[in-house]
Amino acid sequence: MDDIVGKLKYEAEPSEQANDDGRFMGAFAGYRNLKRRIAGLAKRGIMMPFFQPRDGVSTSVIRWQGRGLINYSGYNYLGLSGHPEVSAAAKAAIDKYGTSASASRIVSGQIGLHGDLEKRIAKFIGTQDAIVFVSGYLTNVTVISHLLSRVDGVIYDDAAHNSIMTGARLSGAKMITFPYGDWKGLEANLSQNRSEFRRGLLVGEGVYSMDGMVYDLKRAVELKRKHDLLLMIDEAHSLGTLGATGRGICEHTGIPSSSVDVHMGTLSKTLAGCGGYIAGDRDLIEYLRYLAPGFIFSVGLSPPDTGAAMAALDILEREPQRTQELRQRTHFFRQLARQYGLPLGGEMDAPVASLVIGNGNTCMMVSQRLLEAGIHVQPIVHPAVAVDGARLRFFITIDHTEAQFRATMPAIAKELEAIGQLVG
Ligand SMILES: Cc1ncc(COP(=O)(O)O)c(C=O)c1O
Repeated sequence: MDDIVGKLKYEAEPSEQANDDGRFMGAFAGYRNLKRRIAGLAKRGIMMPFFQPRDGVSTSVIRWQGRGLINYSGYNYLGLSGHPEVSAAAKAAIDKYGTSASASRIVSGQIGLHGDLEKRIAKFIGTQDAIVFVSGYLTNVTVISHLLSRVDGVIYDDAAHNSIMTGARLSGAKMITFPYGDWKGLEANLSQNRSEFRRGLLVGEGVYSMDGMVYDLKRAVELKRKHDLLLMIDEAHSLGTLGATGRGICEHTGIPSSSVDVHMGTLSKTLAGCGGYIAGDRDLIEYLRYLAPGFIFSVGLSPPDTGAAMAALDILEREPQRTQELRQRTHFFRQLARQYGLPLGGEMDAPVASLVIGNGNTCMMVSQRLLEAGIHVQPIVHPAVAVDGARLRFFITIDHTEAQFRATMPAIAKELEAIGQLVG
């Protein structure tokens, strides 16, 4: 145990100390605070849990420092990153087009694969068209900020992903936020304030990335109709994981995809690559294709990422049982957690589950102890969550086995008991 932790303790390099003394970052309160937190970890004997390099493909097992660990820290939900067909497609795309699109698509970065992937995504989601961006994060930022301006309103809850909030802030639109799930409060707010802004964009997530809640699409669609809003759903964690065939929140709820105006998703999770997409009406996609800054002033999606996402989509369409198998694993994980008295956040069908610990250092300590027990689950701490809302976040994938879950639960229960003693 000490060996592993010893190797990971943060020790300032001489060059970093020089930085602190005379360089400009010392004037940044946020940086000073970061350094204090890092030093505090070292003092408490807590290893630095972030940026630890691992070996091999992220499946239900990862290799780290020569050891195999049960892995809950990767969102390779359907096991398609590392799938031979997906890897072969990425390699074939490199052979044909090289490793980079080498220009923005609007000039000469367009390759045939881009259009093919977009058509496939649109068909899969059930929209007229789609467009792909080089990053999921960038997709939210550039699309939300480009669709809205100061006379508009953007509405999202306090569990929304940072990319949604950043896009909202950059748009300059009036920001209307509400506690997750407080639809009545939002309704009251809109009844009073809807007239204060022109266009209103309500943004939610199919499966929430931090705790695994599933979006109440029915309520959202009712509100959209009543208050004349546009509705955007981020399906980063619900594409491939929700619905009978992995088509996401609309399929899960039985609500037609035409009820959602802006379907957003990422290529980095189920689709085993890197990038983001927007699917929707032809006009919306045309507008973004010619004018969204994060699209026209950025390089086209790389050939291997495009090829990988195409192949992943092929497999998803051909093997919808993957989504169902993932759901069975997720149910089993959550049921077992219940038996062990572990209060997991999120809903039965969501492959993201959180376990709120509270204090950030305690959370990192628990994560470290689980690592020593052969279980890799990442701590999520402030500023990603509230100061007293640190949690462990589990991603369940199709590769996980019952045996792995059965090994995990008693280890977590033991650590929770231990922190009860430590904290008390
Ligand atoms: C809900 C949500 N939206 C957007 C993103 C950004 O996607 P990417 O990591 O592919 O850039 C993430 C990242 O995990 C996410 O969880």
